[in-house]
Amino acid sequence: MTAQLTITQPDDLHLHVRQGDALANVITDTARQFSRAIIMPNLITPVTQVHQAQAYRQEILDALPDDTSFHPLMTLYLTDQTSAQTIYEAKEAGIIHGLKLYPAGATTHSDAGVTRIKRIWPALEAMQTLGIPLLIHGEVTDPSVDIFDREKVFIETVLEPLLADFPALKIVLEHITTRDAVDFILQAPGHVVATLTAHHLLLNRNALFKGGIRPHLYCLPVLKRETHRQALVSAAVSGNPKFFLGTDSAPHAQHAKESACGCAGMYTAYHAMELYAEVFDEAGALDKLEDFSSTFGAKFYGLPKNTTHLTLTRKDWEIPAHLPYGKEGKDRLIPFRAGEICHWKADARS
Ligand code: NCD
Ligand code: ZN
Repeated sequence: MTAQLTITQPDDLHLHVRQGDALANVITDTARQFSRAIIMPNLITPVTQVHQAQAYRQEILDALPDDTSFHPLMTLYLTDQTSAQTIYEAKEAGIIHGLKLYPAGATTHSDAGVTRIKRIWPALEAMQTLGIPLLIHGEVTDPSVDIFDREKVFIETVLEPLLADFPALKIVLEHITTRDAVDFILQAPGHVVATLTAHHLLLNRNALFKGGIRPHLYCLPVLKRETHRQALVSAAVSGNPKFFLGTDSAPHAQHAKESACGCAGMYTAYHAMELYAEVFDEAGALDKLEDFSSTFGAKFYGLPKNTTHLTLTRKDWEIPAHLPYGKEGKDRLIPFRAGEICHWKADARS
């Protein structure tokens, strides 16, 4: 039984860190384990322009302690108004690593998202030409489509036609949750890939209703049935470079989660690598964890391999019941599996 594992420092290729006090609360958790992260642009005022991404990047760097080496990789938020010009500016700026497509209304802070793909045609053409990846929240928003089918229907009605129109566009289908998405990625060209979260690898939808309704396990795309979870685990541990790590860690204050209309998102950044280690360990595939966490994503984004390392040790410790959040830490952030025992411990944790 492997007791300890040292891997190249991983990268988180899908992360929400918010702004202001919340940013200061969460960014050190990610920086403790990851060297770089693709930062999602769904702020209250979405990051649609290069100058906003530059300012947000600086805000993230300023929120980090001086001795921290962490690199935020910025993205822009696509709207119906995003022009080809903005894409060229993004390329020129050198700090933009992808454009995020939120179908309008699909998830947290997505109201300004794209209403019809045709509206961003020139932007997509520019991205294809320049080799800038399109990062997709892959769910349809039609309220008549069952929530558990929204990813599958998105693939069939939006993604497959998009691929036919833009055969050379680099695409990341984010936080996939279904066997359908795994199968789609497997048969797609090499430049069409997917990220996998720790929570979708660990849980199926029964967890949402275990003994009562569990608002801290609500995220989008919503957890799916066990057969889908198993397909995700198979993809993660397969050693196929098309599947790599993206936590989709998405913090919300406790009161915003424990509400009559609770927000979507789970906070996993606190112990992300320990959670992934548990998945790979259970699948008997710890030898595949490093490529999934530290190699495949960097390669897709054209980033050099990190030169630092992270060590994971088999050791039980208790996940805190809550973490400080917001102004002067007066709110609370409930981490994934709060108060439960975690079976792996990263060396960066004191
Ligand atoms: C994310 C958030 O809170 O920003 N929520 C989530 O459930 N994953 C948005 C997103 O990625 O869908
Ligand atoms: Zn997300």
